[in-house]
Amino acid sequence: MIKVITYGTYDLLHEGHIRLLKRAKALGDYLIVGVTSEDFDRSRGKINVKQSLAERIEGVRSTGLADEIIVEEYEGQKIDDIRRLGVDIFTVGSDWVGTFDYLKEYCQVIYLERTQGVSSTQIRAEKGRLRIGLLGDSTILDKFIRECKYVNGVELTGIANEDTDCLSDICKALPLVTKNYDEILDCSDAVYIISHPSRHYEEVKHALERGKHVICESPIALKRNQAEECFRLAKEKGLILLEGIKTAYSMAYGRLVLMAKTGKIGNIISIDATCTSLRDLRQFSEKELDREWNSITAWAPNGLLPVFQLLGTSYKDLRIVTRILDEERKLDAFTKIEFVYPNAVASVKVGTGAKSEGEMVISGTKGYIYVPAPWWKTDYFEIRYENSNDNKRYFYQLDGEGIRYEIVAFSRAVETGKNFAYISKEASEGIAEIMEKYHDGEGVLRI
Ligand code: CTP
Repeated sequence: MIKVITYGTYDLLHEGHIRLLKRAKALGDYLIVGVTSEDFDRSRGKINVKQSLAERIEGVRSTGLADEIIVEEYEGQKIDDIRRLGVDIFTVGSDWVGTFDYLKEYCQVIYLERTQGVSSTQIRAEKGRLRIGLLGDSTILDKFIRECKYVNGVELTGIANEDTDCLSDICKALPLVTKNYDEILDCSDAVYIISHPSRHYEEVKHALERGKHVICESPIALKRNQAEECFRLAKEKGLILLEGIKTAYSMAYGRLVLMAKTGKIGNIISIDATCTSLRDLRQFSEKELDREWNSITAWAPNGLLPVFQLLGTSYKDLRIVTRILDEERKLDAFTKIEFVYPNAVASVKVGTGAKSEGEMVISGTKGYIYVPAPWWKTDYFEIRYENSNDNKRYFYQLDGEGIRYEIVAFSRAVETGKNFAYISKEASEGIAEIMEKYHDGEGVLRI
């Protein structure tokens, strides 16, 4: 009996897949099909897959061509499978010519002609086209624009900003560049807002009132009731409102939160998160200072994220200590936010006028999670214990600093109508509340 094996994602099963499976089957007597797991796809940068593993397996099964279906979970598994299952022929489409020649040591390798004019990528792009407009003038916009290219079905319509001259060349190359926010909303299904934080609330509200989905760089608002109002409005209108903190969407961060929640380090006792980026405000013009985000708005949402996700927002006590540089604009050089919970404490340090090690430590009763600097865009963390032999290191894929995953999450939320709550409403409102307390000066200590 000649055993044949082939692998693929088989997302949104199409004619190209079926033709390949038929020819693969005809090469022998028994066909094994390896379907990629979600984690494996993500680890190789394939982030746009629409169907779950179970749905994709079902698709392959429904062709009636596979005698056996297995799941492909790790790099190097093909060699294991070929030896374990006694495979005679390995085959894939011609888009892979040469890639799997290393398997010739174990079995025959045949590349079959790929069917022209069809692919899962193309079907995904045609299925859900999401037109996103941009608002604001941050350097992050260039990254956002670049990352959109990797997300199937996302199309950028243009950018609105009061001062179009200050925009980067990448921004200026978008189809529409305008000073008029409404003009961008007119031709978009959704908007990405990264204007000055003091304007977020009005701009988020306006987009929602006009029936547009919103992804807004955190903080969404500088007052708790404003954030609540925006979420209420989004719900009423059946729209997605997503808080833009790229860290929340990255794999390593997501996994470490899950591990902390499932008790890997015991009960959480303390969280310490630091985020700084040094800027010399003395070199800034008045206009640049007006556009500047203070440390609290630029960094605190990142630091507050793990605190609120792991300990919740019902803290017993809060203390904010700050050093202000520019009184009128509330620009702070450094701020420390300390929380006391019934059974834990947390400390978030942020600064644009002071430099520190940007690491995060989550301490528990059994061990601690250590994330090295810069923890907010990490692909790696460690879980450490009293006995260092028990320590474990975890590595994950991180593409586009997490922005790519953020865009995927947003487009998926819009498509399905479900916000998968990478950042819960409760955490978002908690962030807005800290912004409010800071800017009102309530209980804020100055140094
Ligand atoms: N395949 C094919 N003809 C096509 C598309 C895919 O022969 N038009 C083959 C691939 O070469 C591979 C198998 O089908 O051997 C599974 O491919 P997969 O990567 O799942 O499909 P694609 O449509 O190429 O997916 P994507 O666009 O996500 O890369």
